Amino acid sequence: MRATPDPELFREVFGRFATGVAVITSAGSTGAGGMTANALCSLSLDPLLALVCFENRARTLPIVRDAGSFAVNILAADQEQVAGVFASKLPESEKLAGVAHRLEQGVPVIEGSLAWAVCELRELIAGGDHTIAIGEVVALGLGDGTPLLWFEGRYHALPASA
Ligand SMILES: Cc1cc2nc3c(=O)[nH]c(=O)nc-3n(C[C@H](O)[C@H](O)[C@H](O)COP(=O)(O)O)c2cc1C
Repeated sequence: MRATPDPELFREVFGRFATGVAVITSAGSTGAGGMTANALCSLSLDPLLALVCFENRARTLPIVRDAGSFAVNILAADQEQVAGVFASKLPESEKLAGVAHRLEQGVPVIEGSLAWAVCELRELIAGGDHTIAIGEVVALGLGDGTPLLWFEGRYHALPASA
């Protein structure tokens, strides 16, 4: 019988996959909220689809399910504090209240983000202790700056020469 690989090593292995950092925001009849995420990617060009993986306990997931929409806010290097707020378990209502944002297609978009995309929820797929949300992109935009990065469990910025 095969031995089960060590979950800690699993975390370390995938922690070496350097990523950007995003905040997934949403607002519906049950309230507004958001969470910091790096398990996301573009999925399809025709139609335009993106996917985000939500831990099943994430409080943002039921908000997205209820609202039927979400925004991907790709964070800039100077938004580490924003990443910290949305990675926390502050009351959902306090998270967005403390961060400058506007509505795009009725979905909160964080001011100062490096880029953003608003998605209409198309599918929720079970994936172990996570749920994969597939959204169709209905609005997009670019901001200014350089990306906030996540590598080996810490935030980073591109070196000045990049
Ligand atoms: C860099 C980083 C990336 C993260 N990526 C994810 C992710 O992709 N999916 C997820 O469910 N949680 C992710 N988290 C954890 C959530 O941000 C955290 O559990 C948060 O408290 C969820 O907020 P909520 O319960 O208000 O939805 C990440 C945290 C950090 C710091």
